[in-house]
Amino acid sequence: MTVTLSPRALLSLLVNGPKAMDVLATALDLGLLDALEPGPVRLDALAAQFGVLPLRLYKFLDCIESLGFLVRDEPGDDIGTTSYRAVLGLRDAVHAVVGPGATERDRDRYPWRQLHGRLAESLRGEVSIEDGFAWPPKTAAQTAEFERSMALGLGPAIDTVRRHASRLWSDRHRLLDVGGGDGTLAAHILDSAPGLRADVYNLPAVAPLVAATRDSSGHADRLGFVGGDFFTEALPRGYDALSFVRVLHDWPNPVARDLVRQAYAALEPGGLILVCEEFRTPDRLAMQFFWSYFLIGVDSSVSRLREADFYTKLLAETGFENVAVLPGTWELVIAYKPVP
Ligand SMILES: C[S@@+](CC[C@H](N)C(=O)[O-])C[C@H]1O[C@@H](n2cnc3c(N)ncnc32)[C@H](O)[C@@H]1O
Repeated sequence: MTVTLSPRALLSLLVNGPKAMDVLATALDLGLLDALEPGPVRLDALAAQFGVLPLRLYKFLDCIESLGFLVRDEPGDDIGTTSYRAVLGLRDAVHAVVGPGATERDRDRYPWRQLHGRLAESLRGEVSIEDGFAWPPKTAAQTAEFERSMALGLGPAIDTVRRHASRLWSDRHRLLDVGGGDGTLAAHILDSAPGLRADVYNLPAVAPLVAATRDSSGHADRLGFVGGDFFTEALPRGYDALSFVRVLHDWPNPVARDLVRQAYAALEPGGLILVCEEFRTPDRLAMQFFWSYFLIGVDSSVSRLREADFYTKLLAETGFENVAVLPGTWELVIAYKPVP
C-alpha cells in the first residue's frame, strides 16, 4: 500500500512526530504489532487479547492508520467488528527505530542541537558543529565513538555481502576493505568466505579498534590491518578484491574518481572492486535525514548520496569490466579489472 499525503497532511504528522512515535513504541511493547501484521484481526478480539478498552483502542489504531501503516475494514455500526491489518514489515521497522541498538537513538547522541533553531545562521556559515564531533575524527575518543556508531548501522551491507558470498568470494584470496571502519564488515565477510584473508585499510588511529574486532571475531589469523591515509599515499597492492563501503559518498566527485583510479592501479589483474553504500532513492534519502541535517554544520563532510549509476559509469570509465549491480537492502556495485 502506498499512501501519498498532501503537504498539509504530512506536516500535521511531522509536527506530532513525538506522539506518533509514542503510539508506535507502545504498540510494539504491548505486542499489538505482532497481532496486527498477520491480520486481519477484529477490534473486539484485539481488545480482549490485550486487556484494553475497545473505544480507546479504536482511537489508538486511528493514529497508526493516519501514518499509512494499517488497512481497516469497518463493516457496520459496531466498532468491535472493525478489522485491521498492518503493512508488511511494520513490526521490524518500528523495532529498528525504537528497539535496543536503534540507529536513530544512536544518532540522537550526536550534538545536532548546536544547529537546532539556528539553521539560518548555519546556512550563512555563522554557526557550525564545533563541539563533540569532527570529520574525519580527530581524537582517539572521537574515532572510537564514530566507528562504533558506523558498525551499528552496517546491517544492510552485511546482509548484502552475505547474500552474494559465493559469487563474490569463491575465487578470491585477499580482500582490502578500504576505510573499513573497525573491521566489523570484514569479520562478517570472513564468516562466509573460508578461503579469504581480509585486511582493513584505515587511518592508523583505528588500529586498536580493528585489533579488538579481530580478537572477538574468531578470525585472528585471517583479519589484518594496514594503517594508512589514502590522501597521502597509494593504496597497498597485492589484493584480488577491494571494497569501498560507505567511503566514496564522504567525498566530492573528483576525490571519489581518484580513489576508484587508485583502486584500479592497486588491484591485481582480474581483481574485483565492490562499492556499497546507501545509493540514492526516496526511501534512503528519508532514512538519511539525520545526517543531511546534522552535516549542514560540518563542511569537511560533503555527504553525497549518489545514485548507483554514478558508480556503474565511473567503474566502466576507469577501465573496469563486467560491471553489475547486485540486489540487496543496499545494492552492491561490482566490477573486475581486465586481465591483459
Ligand atoms: C563513513 S566511515 C565507513 C566505515 C565502514 N566502511 C562502514 O561502512 O561502517 C568512513 C571510513 O573511512 C575512513 N577514512 C576516512 N578518511 C580516510 C583516509 N584519509 N584514509 C583511510 N581511511 C579513511 C574512516 O576512518 C572510516 O572508517
